[in-house]
Amino acid sequence: MLGPVILAASRSDRMRRLISAAPVTKQVVDRFIPGESVDDIVPIIRDLTARGLELTMDVVGEDITTPAQAEAARDAYLRLIDRLEDMELGERVEMSVKLSMFGQALDGGHDMALANVRPVVEAAAAIGTTVTLDAEDHTTLDSMFAIHEELRRDFPQTGCVIQAYLFRTEADARRLAAAGSRVRLVKGAYKEPAEVAYQQKHEIDKAYVRILRILMEGEGYPMVGSHDPRLISIAQELAHRAGRKPDEYEFQMLYGIRGDEHLRLAAQGHRMRVYTAYGTDWYGYFMRRLAEKPANLRFFVRSMLSK
Ligand code: FDA
Repeated sequence: MLGPVILAASRSDRMRRLISAAPVTKQVVDRFIPGESVDDIVPIIRDLTARGLELTMDVVGEDITTPAQAEAARDAYLRLIDRLEDMELGERVEMSVKLSMFGQALDGGHDMALANVRPVVEAAAAIGTTVTLDAEDHTTLDSMFAIHEELRRDFPQTGCVIQAYLFRTEADARRLAAAGSRVRLVKGAYKEPAEVAYQQKHEIDKAYVRILRILMEGEGYPMVGSHDPRLISIAQELAHRAGRKPDEYEFQMLYGIRGDEHLRLAAQGHRMRVYTAYGTDWYGYFMRRLAEKPANLRFFVRSMLSK
């Protein structure tokens, strides 16, 4: 029951101020968000890629309130891409973006988000890599899919995320499982009402398998975003049955969660991409990680009490 409470807190400004100012927060946050600046993150990119992992980079931030913040988000990604150019890692390091950080929720936000994300997608393509549009809460998705379709006209490799907990997602998966598409399937991390989303873990897991089958049997490139050992072995089985070779799909996991498994899958010859977040506006991202595993919250509270 703690998960929904933490997710509600993730949208509260009061909690944001309290938790961001807590004396030990930073050291707990570092487990999931291992840096604040491009300079912090470059050595981590070098280290993880040297171990055979691929990355998708997220500059944390969402729920911005001014167009200037949206432009600052765009510029933060452009600075990262500039540094990646010298590292010559190509598609081994791609970008993940949240359109809310590019202005999607502001007045005229759809066009603003498209205008801000396009230069990031262009810059990524210029260094031989790509961008995946993260999925946020269900009210933002029609706009996200429209922006995805628009970007794909010029940059067909642009990816997007779909969430197994939403009733709409099976239909989205059928539409997206076409040649050239790149689709990351996740369970879903936001607090969604029962009118639009499954609420029980077993229902979400069953939906995940149904949708994964659609993606694996389709023509696109499935990206399996989960740490769930059961779903990972089902994904291997579905890929095998669909006749996919190891480079025709990939696994993705979050930095700081099941790190040994990242290396184990990579060592077995799978493509394993680690979603690596950095930046200063980490509150929303961090709270979703706490909500996914309440034991994280207990660890967080214990470390505050022990100070
Ligand atoms: P599940 O929650 O059942 O976890 C399986 C096991 O993994 C747990 O038993 C535990 O061992 C471990 N685990 C999972 N989460 C943990 C945590 N926070 N701390 C410690 N251990 C943990 N969501 C979304 O709505 N939009 C998006 O764009 C994305 N993008 C995204 C990218 C990638 C690469 C991943 C892996 C995930 C996302 N997500 C996301 C988050 C996703 O929706 C989901 O909330 C988490 O992946 C947790 O679900 P699992 O599939 O891992 O299963």
